[in-house]
Amino acid sequence: MAVKWYKIYDFEEDGYEPQQLYSVRTIDVKGKLLCLGRLPEGYVAVDDKCPHGAGGRLGMGKCDEHGIVTCPIHRYRYDLKTGKGLQSDYVNNYEVETRYDGVYIGIKQKNWWPF
Ligand code: FES
Repeated sequence: MAVKWYKIYDFEEDGYEPQQLYSVRTIDVKGKLLCLGRLPEGYVAVDDKCPHGAGGRLGMGKCDEHGIVTCPIHRYRYDLKTGKGLQSDYVNNYEVETRYDGVYIGIKQKNWWPF
């Protein structure tokens, strides 16, 4: 499955540290809402919508020093590096690359060709 890369931070426009360490925020990448976190090892991204009943927005949650984000609704927790939930759910995670000019996120593209 092909991966398409989208620039989410431009170092020239946003500065070299556009997001604080251990913070999360919701970003919109072509209509897809993602929770973007920044950890010492780099940026990480998972689906923004919590899979638990009320569909809380993880980008409005809190990230701890272990890279675990806590949903703001019922406080389920997810590992931002793997997407694995500590209560057995999971969220999709996405590749994020820091390049010379900014930060890019890779979104897998669905094949439009049927075979
Ligand atoms: S909606 Fe996220 S924990 Fe319930």
